Amino acid sequence: MTAQIINGRAIRDEILAGLKQDIEELKQQGVQPGLAVVLVGDDPASKQYVGMKAKKSKEIGMYSEVHTLPSTTSQDELLALIDKLNNAHNVHGILVQLPLPAHIEEKAVIDAIRVEKDVDGFHPVSVGNMMIGDDCLLPCTPAGIIELIKRTGTDIAGKHAVVVGRSNIVGKPVALLLLRENATVSVCHSKTANMKEITRQADILVVAAGRPGLIPGDYVKPGAVVIDVGTPVGDVQYEEAAAVAGAITPVPGGVGPMTIAMLMSNTVKAARQMLANG
Ligand code: GUN
Repeated sequence: MTAQIINGRAIRDEILAGLKQDIEELKQQGVQPGLAVVLVGDDPASKQYVGMKAKKSKEIGMYSEVHTLPSTTSQDELLALIDKLNNAHNVHGILVQLPLPAHIEEKAVIDAIRVEKDVDGFHPVSVGNMMIGDDCLLPCTPAGIIELIKRTGTDIAGKHAVVVGRSNIVGKPVALLLLRENATVSVCHSKTANMKEITRQADILVVAAGRPGLIPGDYVKPGAVVIDVGTPVGDVQYEEAAAVAGAITPVPGGVGPMTIAMLMSNTVKAARQMLANG
């Protein structure tokens, strides 16, 4: 079997084209969705992600502001900026790029973001709303993964979905979203015994372990949908897995572009909700 290659860039572009129209309509109602991205320090990978987020938001007609702060910024200074952004009428979404420098407590920063502007979906209230299935801003990478799976034509309900990895950013939330879609969900992690036995049962296999090449081809069930969240190198041994899978995401060009599309989608949603609520 030769797997269908899931083209995350093409799907991102389709989603962004739709959002561009939504933004045009919102502008006609007097609201331009706005995204504020905050970067503390000069980690090269983070800088690149932030640059991409700002570029894409401008391309689709969004208002965008980037706050680049030195690595010596204190927690209080960062919290003061978040307070300002929480109250800024032209900002509907706030994203603080992670990781933060060690002297800043990540939780304190995430907790400070107004839930209505939490376009990362990391605030505990957003996480709680997702858990109980209430309407909320969903975390971008997990939401992007669900979108990719759906666009392969896969009906998630009733499928066995196996998630490898249990991070707060990807593993845990994607497991919850798959459950919301009525999959039967297993979560594997570094202490899992006989992982191969479990992954080989997966109709949908999402790998977010952050361990390059962790999953060889013989861990994959023939015909499975395989989503590789590893970056910049995949967690799945691509050539081997592609020979077995029904559909597979490449790295790069699979999950990564979807994270941005979902961030833009969340910002438009936040703007729309703020317009509706006055
Ligand atoms: N760092 C790596 N991924 C992410 C993400 O999705 N959001 C934020 N804020 N920081 C990240």
